[in-house]
Amino acid sequence: MEQIRIKGRKPLRGTIPISGAKNAALPLMVAGLLTDQPLTLRGVPGLDDIDTMAELLHNHGAQIDRDDSGDLGLTLTLTAKGPIDTVAPYDLVNRIRASVLVLGPLLARTGEATVSMPGGDAIGIRPIDLHIKGLEEMGAEIRLEGGDVHAKAPNGLTGANIRFPFVSVGATENLLMAATLARGTTILENAAQEPEVTDLAKCLSAMGANIHGIGTQCLVVQGVDALHGADHTVVPDRIEAGTYAVAAAITGGELVLDGADPDHLGAVFEALGHAGVNVSIGLGKLRVSHPTGQCRGFDVMTKAFPGFPTDMQAQFMALMAVANGASLITETIFENRFMHVPELVRMGADVTVHGNSAMVRGNPALRGAPVMATDLRASVCLVLAGLAAEGETIVNGVFHLDRGYERLEDKLRAVGADIERVGQPD
Ligand code: UD1
Repeated sequence: MEQIRIKGRKPLRGTIPISGAKNAALPLMVAGLLTDQPLTLRGVPGLDDIDTMAELLHNHGAQIDRDDSGDLGLTLTLTAKGPIDTVAPYDLVNRIRASVLVLGPLLARTGEATVSMPGGDAIGIRPIDLHIKGLEEMGAEIRLEGGDVHAKAPNGLTGANIRFPFVSVGATENLLMAATLARGTTILENAAQEPEVTDLAKCLSAMGANIHGIGTQCLVVQGVDALHGADHTVVPDRIEAGTYAVAAAITGGELVLDGADPDHLGAVFEALGHAGVNVSIGLGKLRVSHPTGQCRGFDVMTKAFPGFPTDMQAQFMALMAVANGASLITETIFENRFMHVPELVRMGADVTVHGNSAMVRGNPALRGAPVMATDLRASVCLVLAGLAAEGETIVNGVFHLDRGYERLEDKLRAVGADIERVGQPD
């Protein structure tokens, strides 16, 4: 079993290169199914989730060429010339929830798709009703049978006016991709405005899609007969950047986040500001520092972009755990996203959960302990707590980290962390 071993209390100093965003790269890869021409994606992070998505797309008949010789992540070229296999099987969908994104593109391109229902995962039930309802409004006939979503649109999809009752990143991406090849105009209201959705819309436009309102809550898509190939660079990972910003603050260090886009980090920087963390942008460099690592208590509530991201909630809880005074986190996106709490408590954190809120009373004296990672962001929260704690922390369940953080230990070690991976791969 692989573990990450950390000896804490070392201020981190230096520069960390920020990778391409996993959550942008996954839907961008799926967009390759919309055309028979090559789609080249640059700056794709080398992560397990990317490998799983490549396996799924290969299963659908896409050829995937991989070049990892460059400095900036992987370059993937996807060519889905056909024939296209329209079945996304359980064993692949189950490994990565984003695989449900193939539903819209497969339907739009071939008129049919069978996609296994993604299971609930650790952070909540995560249904796909908005994806299904939207595709039905575009004329698809959908039935659920044997755990699979069977979708048909023998005469193609037609444009529709779809208003999401609440913001969903995945449903926006799925329907946006489907709409590019639908007949007529699709309007997506209350659409997600996350930078990863905007990146997808820009790539689809480069592929010949006709999309207005990119970056807003209302996307208007005029369907076209066919899309063509494109060459696109994935946006930087704002969650990885935010995570290393917390690493700088929690260790009383100073890090330059090379390649991060500050425009994507507004709510995260605002929260860091409330905590007394210094964030500055000078000469094109984004610098985050704190003199002692002991921030002020502060409150955050997760919201859709441009609000505070749910994917940063666990990392901020680590920061609050060692802050001066009390903090309150309110999680409004997922119903079960406090699984890191019992593990932080093992390290001496004082956290009380009431429904969707967590009260964190700061305790600067966290102590290292063996802990178990339960999901991607929860596992990195434990790494951050380990960086701040006295003594040794052993993080188990490391495979979660490999799903979403490229070369985490290398990047942290290069800026002064005492961190290593031990044991055999799981
Ligand atoms: C994406 C991100 C994930 C992030 C989340 C919210 C990827 C690969 N993953 O996940 O890291 O935490 O956005 O920013 O990009 N919901 C429904 N019905 C639906 C769809 C969603 O009830 O049909 C609910 C979900 O259960 C959740 C909320 O809506 O409570 C938001 O989910 P959504 O934005 O769709 O998240 P994902 O796209 O799965």
